[in-house]
Amino acid sequence: MGDMRDTQPMKDLSGDACDVSSFRNGLLAWYDTNRRDLPWRATRDPYSVWVSEVMLQQTQVSRVVDYWPRFLERFPTVAALAQAAPDDVLGLWSGLGYYRRARLLHEAAREVVDSCGGTVPSSAAELRELPGMGEYTAAAVASIAFGEPVPVIDANVARVLARVLAIEGDVTRGDGRRALREDAARLLDRDRPGDYNQAVMELGALVCTPASPHCEPCPVAAHCRAVSIGDPTAFPKAAAAPRTVALFETAAVIVSGGRVLLERGSGRGWWEGLWTLPRVPLEEGDDPEAAVREVLAARHSVALQSPDGPLDGPLEERYSVTNHRVTMLVYTLAHGGRDSAARGADDSSRWFTSQELAEIGVPAPDRRVIERVLRSRLESPGASTRPGRRRR
Ligand code: ADE
Repeated sequence: MGDMRDTQPMKDLSGDACDVSSFRNGLLAWYDTNRRDLPWRATRDPYSVWVSEVMLQQTQVSRVVDYWPRFLERFPTVAALAQAAPDDVLGLWSGLGYYRRARLLHEAAREVVDSCGGTVPSSAAELRELPGMGEYTAAAVASIAFGEPVPVIDANVARVLARVLAIEGDVTRGDGRRALREDAARLLDRDRPGDYNQAVMELGALVCTPASPHCEPCPVAAHCRAVSIGDPTAFPKAAAAPRTVALFETAAVIVSGGRVLLERGSGRGWWEGLWTLPRVPLEEGDDPEAAVREVLAARHSVALQSPDGPLDGPLEERYSVTNHRVTMLVYTLAHGGRDSAARGADDSSRWFTSQELAEIGVPAPDRRVIERVLRSRLESPGASTRPGRRRR
């Protein structure tokens, strides 16, 4: 970043209406020529915008670009989503993560049909009443689809405004958050609220980035207090990062006649409604292989003819959920019995072919592991998934 203090006098946004309007105009003109051509920006259909904003929470734009069109093709209207089977919704969400969003979106679609005559509510206040609809999503949908002048505040917006206004305090909670909301409402362009909100988010994503902001080409640098101070990255003040928690678990890939045995949503409550590998959390000192055998015997003795058969492994797979870093130790059991391809013990477990797996909701780490195991079995049938044994 170059030093712009000598070349551009600061245009203070604290009160001067001319400066506020020049800030908005500069930002919107920049957005009009520089915004990314994202598929959901071609529509103002409230349901389509709503789906995009739910997907964009905690997920990178590049991933949503793939998922959003597929989801809308399958469920083009709120009524179509309301009628869908939960498994179909989670299947299309599979790989996007944070599946609670999908369950709540589905529930909210049913509520729109049951209680709002199938019409998506048009104000942020009414939208807020729907399941899973947070302040951010309600403001985004209301401003983008309906032109309601309500400010959106997400992490990008908070960073941009904390820098522009050189806010010293923590803007993520309490009084700091309330003050930020007031500032955001004051700066909002009331004629083009949807574009303005997206412009601030876009600026945060492309220009006013966390570690090394590009202040030289920034359209609002002349209004930015952090630039005038000469230290943009000093804002916002870093909130204490949540402590990282290391977790271990063990899981089993049980393959029979090309099918894999999965359970309904087991594991720490993160995978509710999805199909997962049979798994158990490990405590310090637990023997992973013994733990997985216990699960197979207790939960799958009906489905498996020999849950105490030879296990291969473990394979190691790592993944993160919020501040948890999970190491999953995976064992493989090739189960070739007579009725091994029959349904599992009850509705809580089932055998799936590869083709069926592609259409159901499976956590991304489980999917990766299954693909690894199936690929290695194809490449060397009869070989164990991994030489050597390992104990924690
Ligand atoms: N992040 C979330 N929603 C967005 C949007 N509509 N535009 C830009 N960034 C976003």
